Amino acid sequence: MISVKKIADELLFTLSTNNSSYQMKADQYGVLLHLFYGKKLNDADDLSSLIFMTDMGFCGNPACVGKNRIYSLDNLPQEVSGFGTGDYRDSMVALLHEDGSRAAEFRFDSYEILDGSYKVDGMPALYDTSVTKGETLIITMREVASEVWLKLYYGVYEKENIITRAAKIINKGQRNITVERLLSMNLDMMFFDPDMIYFTGRHAFERAPERVPVKHAKIEVGSVRGTSSHQYNPSFILCDHNANEEFGNCYGFCLAYSGNFIAAAQKDQKNQVRVQMGIHPNGFSYLLNQDEELMTPQVIMSFSDSGFTTLSQQYHDILRENMCRGKYKHEKRPVLINNWEATYFDFNGEKLIHIAKQASELGIEMLVLDDGWFGKRDDDFSGLGDWFVNEKKLEGTLKQLGESVNAMGMKFGLWFEPEMISEDSDLYREHPEWALAIPGREPNRGRYQLTLDMSRADVRDYLLGRMTDILSSAPIMYVKWDLNRSICDMYSHVSGKEHSGELYHKYVLGVYDLLERLLKRFPDLLIEGCSGGGGRFDAGMLYYSPQIWCSDNTDAINRLTIQYGTSFFYPISSVGSHVSACPNHQTGRTVPFQTRGDVAMAGSFGYELDLGKISEEEKEQVKKQVDRFHAFYNLTHEGDYYRLTTLENNDSCMAWAFVAKDKSEAMLTLVKTQSEGNPVPTHVFMKGLDPDKNYKCIIKDDTSVINSGSAFVNAGITIPSVMMQYESVIIRFEEAL
Ligand code: DGJ
Repeated sequence: MISVKKIADELLFTLSTNNSSYQMKADQYGVLLHLFYGKKLNDADDLSSLIFMTDMGFCGNPACVGKNRIYSLDNLPQEVSGFGTGDYRDSMVALLHEDGSRAAEFRFDSYEILDGSYKVDGMPALYDTSVTKGETLIITMREVASEVWLKLYYGVYEKENIITRAAKIINKGQRNITVERLLSMNLDMMFFDPDMIYFTGRHAFERAPERVPVKHAKIEVGSVRGTSSHQYNPSFILCDHNANEEFGNCYGFCLAYSGNFIAAAQKDQKNQVRVQMGIHPNGFSYLLNQDEELMTPQVIMSFSDSGFTTLSQQYHDILRENMCRGKYKHEKRPVLINNWEATYFDFNGEKLIHIAKQASELGIEMLVLDDGWFGKRDDDFSGLGDWFVNEKKLEGTLKQLGESVNAMGMKFGLWFEPEMISEDSDLYREHPEWALAIPGREPNRGRYQLTLDMSRADVRDYLLGRMTDILSSAPIMYVKWDLNRSICDMYSHVSGKEHSGELYHKYVLGVYDLLERLLKRFPDLLIEGCSGGGGRFDAGMLYYSPQIWCSDNTDAINRLTIQYGTSFFYPISSVGSHVSACPNHQTGRTVPFQTRGDVAMAGSFGYELDLGKISEEEKEQVKKQVDRFHAFYNLTHEGDYYRLTTLENNDSCMAWAFVAKDKSEAMLTLVKTQSEGNPVPTHVFMKGLDPDKNYKCIIKDDTSVINSGSAFVNAGITIPSVMMQYESVIIRFEEAL
C-alpha cells in the first residue's frame, strides 16, 4: 500500500507491505528525507521526529534554509544524494554540466501513484502476474539550477514484502549534461548498527557469504568486469549483529542487472548508514542531450524481522513468480544430460547418439550438446562467432541429430556463446571491427577470445539471424547461453568518444535486447544462463533464463557451499546442478553417486558424465534419482527452502529442506562432510513443519516414525545409522492424518 499525507508544507510517503514499512518525507525545502525502513508501522505513524538536527560543524547549509545552521545536507538521511553542493558523503547522482561545473542537488517537484508494476527501460524488472501485482510510486525531483529531472520509482509488493527502487534522469534543458554517476538507490538508515553480508568468490567457487560489521570505513563490493561476475554477486544483506536464520532484523538488496555494479554501506559522522547500489561509476559516464533520459536498473529490497530464512523465501517467491518468465517458469523442466564433462571437444555424431541412447534408457529426458558443434572448434582457440553447424563432426545435420534424439523419447538442447568471437574465425576475418578492442593496443584475451561489441545493432542482428536459422533448422527446445571471459578493452567503432563511458551499460542493454528478441521469436525456448558457471548469476538474467548453471565446479562437496550461498537470494529452481564423474574433474575428490544426486537435486537437475563409464549399480541409481527428482519436483521447485545448518557451524554435516507451501509434505537432505571414529550421532533439527500436524518421517526410504511437526522441529531427528564421510541421506515427511 502507498499512502501520502500532507502535513503543513510537507508530504509524508509511507510504503507498506504485510510486514514492513518504508517511510520518507518531502520536507518544507523539498529535500526527500528517509525516515524509516523496517517492521510494519501503524497507519498514523509519522517518524519525522526521529530526525535530529544540530550544527555539527563543517556541515554547510543550503541557501534555501537561510540562517538555519542546523539544517545540513551533509548529515540528513536522504533518498537521493547529490554531488558538489554540500553533501560530502558518496553521491547517488553526479552531473557534469556544459559549463564545466559539477553539481547535482535535487528537490521534490511532484508525485504520482500507478496501479501495477513499473517497467525499466530496456532492462529486466519485476512484472505483474495474476498471482501478484505491484503498485508504483513515482516521485519527481528537480535539479535546483538546471533543467534536469529525476524520477524515483518505488514498487510495492504487499504480500511478498518486497519494495523496489529505480531512478530515471531526464535532461529537459537545452544544454548537454554528462551523468557521471547514477545509482539505483541511496538509503540513509538511522539508528541501525548492522553487519553486511556479501557474496564473494571466484570462477568455480562462487557466492560464499562473508559477514562484516558496517563501520565508518566503507564496505564496497562490485564488478567492473562487464558482467555481474564470479567475484561478487549483486546482492547483499544488512542485518542485526545477532541475526541468524530465524532471528533478527535483516534487509536484502538485490540488483536486477547483469553488468558492472556497486554495492556499498558506510556509516557517516552521525552514525547513519548510507546504503547504495547501482551501476558501477568506474568507467561510466553518460551524455544526455536535450530530452534524452537514462534509467537505472531495479534494486529489489526486502525486510524480515525473523532472520535470513524468511528473507530468502521472500526473494525466492518474488523472483520465481515475478522475474522468471516463459513456459518453464512453473512447467517441469526436463532432466538433462550435458556432454561437456563427458567429452569436452572430443565428440562426433556417433558418440552423441551413444550418450543419448544410454541416457534415454535411464529415464533422462534431454540431451544438451555443449561447446564444439559449430565452425572450426575442436579446442578453445577458434571458431566462436561462426555459428554454422559442423556437419562433418556431427556426421550429419543438426536436424538429423535432433530427430534421432527425439526418436529416443528425449528432447534436444544446444550450447551457444553468442557474445564472443575468436580471432581465428571467419566472422573475425570479415568483421574485426565487431570485436571490442582499442585501436593501437593489443587487446586482453580471456580464454583466447575477444568480446563482440554488443552495443552494435548489426552485431546483434547477425547473432539473431544465425541463432534463428539454427534453432529453426532442428528440434531444439533449450539453449545454454554461455560467456567465458571478463570484458575489457571498451572501444566501439560506432559510437563517438563522447559516448565511450556508455559502452559497458550499452553492452548489457544489447545482451538483453538480443535475449528478448530471441525469446519473442522462440517463446517456448528454455534458456539456461551460464558464464563459466555462475559468473552471471543475477536477478536480471532470471528474466530471460529461469535456470542458470550455478558453477563450473561440479564437486558435490564444494557445491554444498556454492549452493548454500546462492540460496540466500536465488530460488532453488534457478540453480543449474548436475551429477558428474568421480574423481571429480575440478577437485579430484570422490563422492558417492547417491550424494552427487542428492546435492544436484537441490536445483534444476541433470547429468554431466560419460554414462558408459558408470557401473550397473550406478545406472540403477540414475533411474531412481530421475524418478525421485520428479516425485519431489513440486517441493524443490515450488516449495519453501530452509537452510538447516550454517557454514560457520558446520561441524560435520550440511543439511537443507523443502517444505510444501501447504505444509503437507517435506523433504530434508543431509550430507556428512566430516566423519570420525567411534562417532557421536548425526542429528539435525527440521524447520518449517506445521507444529500441530503429525508427520510420518521416512528415513532412507525404510525407517519411519510418526511425530508432530513440533517434535521434529524442536527435538530434531537422529539418523539411525553411522554415516561415513560424504554420505548423504534423504528424509521425507508426509502428513499423517
Ligand atoms: C563454460 C561452461 O560453464 C561449461 O559448462 C561449458 O559449457 C564450457 N564453458 C564450454 O566451453
